[in-house]
Amino acid sequence: MTPPPGSLLAAENLRKAYGPTTALDGAEFSIHPGEVVAVMGPSGSGKSTLLHCLAGIVTPDSGSITYDGRELSTMSDARRSALRRSEFGFVFQFGQLVPELTCVENVALPLRLNGTPRKEAERTALAWMARLEVDDLARKRPGEVSGGQGQRVAVARSLVTGPRVLFADEPTGALDSLNGERVMELLTEAARSANAAVVLVTHEARVAAWSDREIVVRDGRSRDMERLV
Ligand SMILES: Nc1ncnc2c1ncn2[C@@H]1O[C@H](COP(=O)(O)OP(=O)(O)OP(=O)(O)O)[C@@H](O)[C@H]1O
Ligand SMILES: [Mg+2]
Repeated sequence: MTPPPGSLLAAENLRKAYGPTTALDGAEFSIHPGEVVAVMGPSGSGKSTLLHCLAGIVTPDSGSITYDGRELSTMSDARRSALRRSEFGFVFQFGQLVPELTCVENVALPLRLNGTPRKEAERTALAWMARLEVDDLARKRPGEVSGGQGQRVAVARSLVTGPRVLFADEPTGALDSLNGERVMELLTEAARSANAAVVLVTHEARVAAWSDREIVVRDGRSRDMERLV
């Protein structure tokens, strides 16, 4: 199967079952470089499963996923993990910061794991924290910052390696609307400035308003919603 022309990441006819539960039932997806796509749909419809398949975290039972023209299923596990480390970034609902590390150490961590020396990693980390307006929290630990600040630190960490795709699963789900808006504004601004594509899972319509395009998932099937804006 051929992915839509110009797409960076594309999926066709994805199926995934967990025992008797069908999580994906022929889902499709595509995203262009630098595009922000919102994945919407009710709870249990398969949004997170779709994101996990696209990111190579979960292997679908059948269907095809191509990233940059390469089929994910034909890559070795080592190659897929390398891809996740170097070309993908992740933000989840509850930041998942390491509580023992300071905020700047958290943001620098993906670079450190790729072998970047500490000073250089922290310098790059601080620059990203400044863009997310949390550089003043560099020496605090995650337990000492607010939910919205923690999510902005998590966004800085997800972008620090210069990923081509940012996967965000309900990144503002635990925040009040004002903080959620700010996180979305900074996340989309930062991703756009870095030309990173964003796969944004959300069930909040106001969060989807930050996207270029919306895909709706229902009962494991997805379709494009043409936005008339
Ligand atoms: N690891 C798993 N084991 C068993 N069933 C699972 C697993 N992950 C997902 N499911 C099931 O697959 C279906 C789709 O789940 P998924 O997490 O993708 O939904 P979702 O759209 O992200 O929902 P939510 O909005 O609540 O996060 C659900 O019925 C869920 O119970
Ligand atoms: Mg989910």
